[in-house]
This record gives sequence, C-alpha cells and structure tokens, in this order.
Amino acid sequence: MYILAFESSCDETSAAVVSANDKSITVLSNIIASQISVHALYGGVVPEIASRAHVEAISNITYEALEKAELELKDIDLIAVTNSPGLIGALLVGVNFAKALAFANNIPLVAVDHIKGHIAANYIEYPDLKPPFVAFVASGGHTSIIKVNSYTDTETIGRTRDDAIGEAFDKVGRIMGLPYPGGKEMDRFASIGDKSFAKFPSGAINDDTLDFSFSGLKTHIVNYLHNASQKGEDISKENVAAAFTKTVCDSVVAKLSQALDRTGLKTLVMAGGVSANSHLRAALCDMCEKKRVKLYMPSLALCGDNGAMIAAQAYHDSKLGEFSGTDLNAYATKVTKRNTFHS
Ligand code: KG4
Ligand code: ZN
Repeated sequence: MYILAFESSCDETSAAVVSANDKSITVLSNIIASQISVHALYGGVVPEIASRAHVEAISNITYEALEKAELELKDIDLIAVTNSPGLIGALLVGVNFAKALAFANNIPLVAVDHIKGHIAANYIEYPDLKPPFVAFVASGGHTSIIKVNSYTDTETIGRTRDDAIGEAFDKVGRIMGLPYPGGKEMDRFASIGDKSFAKFPSGAINDDTLDFSFSGLKTHIVNYLHNASQKGEDISKENVAAAFTKTVCDSVVAKLSQALDRTGLKTLVMAGGVSANSHLRAALCDMCEKKRVKLYMPSLALCGDNGAMIAAQAYHDSKLGEFSGTDLNAYATKVTKRNTFHS
C-alpha cells in the first residue's frame, strides 16, 4: 500500500510517501520544509507566521514527495494527515489540504494523532518492534509516558503538568543567548560542560504518579542566571547546560524506571524531537541495560516532526477501517485516555 502523509502541527511542513505492508514500512520520500529560520527572528514559534508558511510550502512539497517516490497521485492508496494536537491554524492547513486532495482524487483519508505518529517513527526503523511497550515522547510541546497496548490503543500514564522538556531546553537556551531552537545547542554545550557544577531541582514530581514538572527547574535556572549577571559573575554556559541536562536526564530516568516496574513491560521506546538529545539517549541506554529492558530509539532524522512517521501510524490506523470525511476537523488539544499507576 502506498501512503501519502502530511504533517503541519507546528513549524515543519512535511509530505512523505511510504510503501507499507505487514512486514515493513519503507520511506520513499520524506520532504520537510523547516520554518526555523523564520521563527528564529522571534526566539520562538509565531503561530500566525507558521500557518502562512505552511500554506506557502504544502503544495510544492507534495509534488516533491511524489516525484522523489517516482509515483503519481493515482498510485496512492491512502492519504494521512495529523489533525491533533498542535497549533490550530497550522494543523488546519494540513487537514484542509489533505481533505481536498483525498476527495478530489477519491482516495481514502485517515486522521492521525501527532503523538502516536512520533512513536510510529520507530516502526519504520525497527520492523521487529511490536506492542505492548512503554513509550517516552518528549518534544517542544509534549512530554508523556505512554503505555502502548497495541498499534492503535495507547494510554497516557505520566505527563508533564506544565512545560514540555523541549520547551524547557529552548527557554534555558534562549536566556543563555543560544540560537533558536536551543535544544540542539544545549546538547552540544552540555557535552563540554561539567555536569556536577551545580545541583538543580528535579523535574520528577515527588509523589506516586509518573508525572513531571519542568517549569520550576526552568525558572530556577533563569533566576540563577539573572542573579549571576546582576552580581557581574561570569557563569559558564557549558556548565549550566551540562548540569541542567543531567537534572532532566535523572528526572526522566527516575519516572521511566517506575513506569517500567509498574507496567512490568520490558521494552522502552523513545520518540519526539528531544529524543535526539545525546545525553538522554546515553542515560536511557544505561538504565535499560541495568534493568535488562530493550530500548528502541529513532535515528536523528526521524526524531523531529516529519510526514513519514504520520504515514507509519496511518498504516495501522487504517486497519481499524475508520476513515475521515469532509467534516474532518483539527484539534489543538485532545482528551487522551489516562491511567494513573499507583504502587
Ligand atoms: O518533535 P519536535 O520536532 O516538534 C514538536 O512536536 O514540538 O520537537 C522539537 C523540540 C524542540 O524543543 C527542540 O529544541 C528539541 O525538540 N530538540 C532537542 C534536541 N534536538 C531537538 N532537545 C534537546 N536536545 C536535542 N539534541
Ligand atoms: Zn512533534
């Protein structure tokens, strides 16, 4: 089956074509038009600018994706699009484009959840990966621990109560004058700095839930840097990045370790833009080795937002036979099935 998929939930417009069957999902094209340089001027994503940039890019990247896959629209069996969660204006561009294309060409349409899409990036690279497993999804907008019961049934068992990890990385990076988005540069700085330079407050909430809170950690560092600058102290950005990153990694390891123990599952899957972080990857490798848990991490190219991951999830969703009509809408947030695990 050939799937043409669209992703436009934030600041990347992507169109991808995959060939999928029960044995494997092969990416034939995965075109990503990034808006980073536009939003960098403002130090963060400006929703209205994002929507307009999606409108400008989506048609051209669709042609590009089909051309690279050496296919035409008439060869496509399924169209997929992210419809939630994300920036509403940005999502609507992808949803309306996909709807128009699907109905004008009489191709079935499937709406895909962005978070499930991030997890599905792993199905592309690891055909042996099968639910059930625990997934950790961390990006600029989301930080969740998810129990993946089947390819289509997921339960959120832990989540951030405020800032997402990517958001915290980006804000700390911004305050230190690093280019937007700060996550990637923070990763590089942390590799040079001394992680034992300071102790910062944990992002793992000290209760029996699997929840996080990263806004306190972020604010602590922002205040710390402001105080230092007012006193004229020269603080090493590398050391701050290293100590901050260590705190994030320790917090994630603490709650994921509990999530694995409570669910009894022996497979952990990383997903989302922050799963590109080299220190987090190393920390989770270490934890999984100790706990004898199998760890799957997407390659860097599939960590961030992309259409191929949406196509991968759409393949499994399409088996439910629930296709979308012209009334398909986009949703900025979605009520997800949530279970709280108590020990
Ligand atoms: O999944 P994604 O591309 O978009 C959203 O759905 O939000 O994630 C983007 C986020 C940004 O906050 C970015 O700074 C962060 O992922 N990120 C990183 C790294 N690479 C990207 N954070 C930490 N370390 C990295 N290497
Ligand atoms: Zn994302």
